[in-house]
Amino acid sequence: FEADWDADMVDKQGYDHFMLKEINEQPDVARRIMADRFTESDIDLGDIEEILAGDYKKVMITACGTAYHSGLIGRFLIEEFADIPVEVEVASELRYKKNFIDKNTLMIVVSQSGETADTLAALRLAKEKGARVVALTNSIGSSVDRESDASFQLMAGPEISVASTKAYVAMVLVFYLLSLKLGKLNDNISEARLKELIDDLKRLPYRIQETISEFAEISKEIAEAIKEYRSVFFIGRNIDYALALEGALKLKEISYIHAEAHPAGELKHGSLALIEDGVPVFAITTREKVAKKTLSNIEEVMARGGQVNLITAKNIEYDKIEVDNKLVLPEIDNIWSSVLAAIPLQLISYYTALELGRNIDKPRNLAKSVTVE
Ligand code: G6P
Repeated sequence: FEADWDADMVDKQGYDHFMLKEINEQPDVARRIMADRFTESDIDLGDIEEILAGDYKKVMITACGTAYHSGLIGRFLIEEFADIPVEVEVASELRYKKNFIDKNTLMIVVSQSGETADTLAALRLAKEKGARVVALTNSIGSSVDRESDASFQLMAGPEISVASTKAYVAMVLVFYLLSLKLGKLNDNISEARLKELIDDLKRLPYRIQETISEFAEISKEIAEAIKEYRSVFFIGRNIDYALALEGALKLKEISYIHAEAHPAGELKHGSLALIEDGVPVFAITTREKVAKKTLSNIEEVMARGGQVNLITAKNIEYDKIEVDNKLVLPEIDNIWSSVLAAIPLQLISYYTALELGRNIDKPRNLAKSVTVE
């Protein structure tokens, strides 16, 4: 008997790359994170709850890379649901600047590997200053896991691809759970609303699955259309800007195409000078409140011949806009669209890197875990 696969293929479970396998694991990751956590109108976060229940003046989030981008989403969610001010700092910056961490600070440290040197140093600094530290990590027994006061396990399973996908979605999802719980503890969210949101959350794994299946083809087409360009831009406002940053990072790290993200309103303060015929721009509009504003920035791009790819939510209506590609996320309360919007961004990066023949799982110059400063 001879197996018709090699050891590598077994690990990849038939996928060409770990990245694609890990993208496809996201519905299950979401299920695992949420399993046994809900009652009708409450969320059970285990031993983290005792820490969340403290009386904090502010929340600080620190991390590096993709984990930092999840923290930017976390900021909007915690501010929105729990009404507490949140600061987010890249760990390598936080370490070397004046900070205002004290015992009234809830510190959230995010790290897939749990071993990133700067993140660990920021965690230690926060503890020295008396903050309570909650870690979000994918690595049980890692330094970040051990040294924090309590950890939330991301349960994404081993992530092999250097470009993070499933761990990122896990982080974002955990920020939703944390922020809803903080909102409940602070009496900032009604029981009825929380019940509605929990019902939605239970459906989310299916919506993640739908998003992956629905956008595979269009992502390949977009990859074909953008692969020859030297620069690509991503724009969005608020939470959509946080997504734009992650979209740009994902694209540059594996395709080596220069990609930049901007808050949509900032484009005209510089980068608009680079928009000329065909230059690809990804606009993300998952939130109604700011979608119309971003629309006017999309028009500025179109007026200069930019190629616009719009990633938007179902119930956001635009009267007149004719973009090059419009990716409409599956129907769900727009609150959750930021989880879903990450998926086409992952797929587009993947297929662009594939078109360009890049080493997708192990991009040049990058490491999965950065344990040096
Ligand atoms: C490296 C990886 C990134 C990751 C970052 C932080 O740069 O290539 O994908 O986001 O480290 O890693 P962590 O393990 O702390 O989440």
